[in-house]
Amino acid sequence: MNNGILKILVTEKEIEEATTRIAAEIDRDYAGNNGRLVLLGILKGSIPFLSELMKKIKSNPEIEVMKVSSYGSGTKTSGSVKIILDWQREHIEECDIIVVEDIIDSGRTLSYLCQYLKQKGAKSVRTCTLLDKPSRREVEFVPDYCGMEVPDEFVVGFGLDYDERYRALPYVGVLKPEVYSN
Ligand code: PRP
Repeated sequence: MNNGILKILVTEKEIEEATTRIAAEIDRDYAGNNGRLVLLGILKGSIPFLSELMKKIKSNPEIEVMKVSSYGSGTKTSGSVKIILDWQREHIEECDIIVVEDIIDSGRTLSYLCQYLKQKGAKSVRTCTLLDKPSRREVEFVPDYCGMEVPDEFVVGFGLDYDERYRALPYVGVLKPEVYSN
């Protein structure tokens, strides 16, 4: 185990099982769908989850990415979401979008993105997250697909970072307090 990690919260096996289950749910829900199924990964945290999920979905989804920055002013309560890298594709009206995230915290990022994509004319918009921290919600938001709920601990790994580190861990762990309190 990485020496910044206090304990493993979600194992590689649990991530694999959750991803397999969600892929099957998506295949079931979009069977016979006549639109273009697009997995829209939100950089950077969604990268590992998106790459596992896309391999397991049998209905051959298309892939897009966006990058947004939450809390532009540097405070977690500002609630502002800024688009850093936008969706560039034409004919968004043909697309059934599933926004893919590593984690939902306040709910502001996904809430904003759903509204934004609908305004741009997407055929449909759903959301998918590996982890959900419902205890941290500031706006009401329930994802359509969810791997598992996690408690309000400082989690890193499988896309989640602390100061850009730990994203590449193959599991989700709780960070040792001394790492972020120094
Ligand atoms: C994280 C996560 C979501 C967002 C969730 O991204 O990947 O995009 O925060 O928080 P919210 O529900 O409070 O809006 P972050 O801004 O840390 O960027 P990153 O993915 O590049 O690490």
